[in-house]
Amino acid sequence: MTINILGIAGSPEKGGNTELLLDKVLEGFGCNGDNTVNRKKIVVSDLDFQPCTSCRSCTKIGKCRLNDDMQNVYSDLLWADCIVLASPVYFLGLTAQCKALIDRCQMFWARKFLLNKPIVDNGHESNRRGIILSVGGDKKDSIFCGLIMTAKAFFITIDAAYDEKNSLFIGGIEEKDDVLKSPHYLNAAFDIGKRMYTG
Ligand SMILES: Cc1cc2nc3c(=O)[nH]c(=O)nc-3n(C[C@H](O)[C@H](O)[C@H](O)COP(=O)(O)O)c2cc1C
Repeated sequence: MTINILGIAGSPEKGGNTELLLDKVLEGFGCNGDNTVNRKKIVVSDLDFQPCTSCRSCTKIGKCRLNDDMQNVYSDLLWADCIVLASPVYFLGLTAQCKALIDRCQMFWARKFLLNKPIVDNGHESNRRGIILSVGGDKKDSIFCGLIMTAKAFFITIDAAYDEKNSLFIGGIEEKDDVLKSPHYLNAAFDIGKRMYTG
């Protein structure tokens, strides 16, 4: 089986905690035996795109009229069998970069819910999955609630089933490289990739 994995690095901190976890998950995907794995990583802060302007063109044509880097992201999202959304907690939500990318997916929402058109037509629709990787400085589990709600709405919109058991949330991660302090964190991320498409 061929599996396409799309990693979305949503932190503005290059090589930050969530990106380190994401890289490990992507690495793990390469170790799952019989499958051919194609991996792509988007670093959102490297992209040049506008936030949604609410022009509402997509409600009529099911496409976004803004011609910027999001056009490639739309193709990548449709290509992927698994979307790995990696964002730290910022003010109890996703980073602004991630939120802007998700808002621009309003055109998928319009396509699906207003125009009743299919989102994915690559034959893998029923197996599409979305997982979340997140860290936050606080140790309380509740810091992830807001971010999970937004990510779930995103996954529903792009026809990916939220895979909770393969998502990873780590509190008490405040400074750069904190995630390297215990080998357990990166191992947990690697194992997610490794086990996801086995059996
Ligand atoms: C603008 C900003 C907002 C933040 N808001 C929160 C928050 O609401 N709760 C929390 O636990 N940590 C918060 N943090 C801490 C980050 O989640 C933490 O530093 C994380 O390790 C950054 O991940 P990264 O290395 O992937 O960028 C915030 C950090 C920044 C810069």
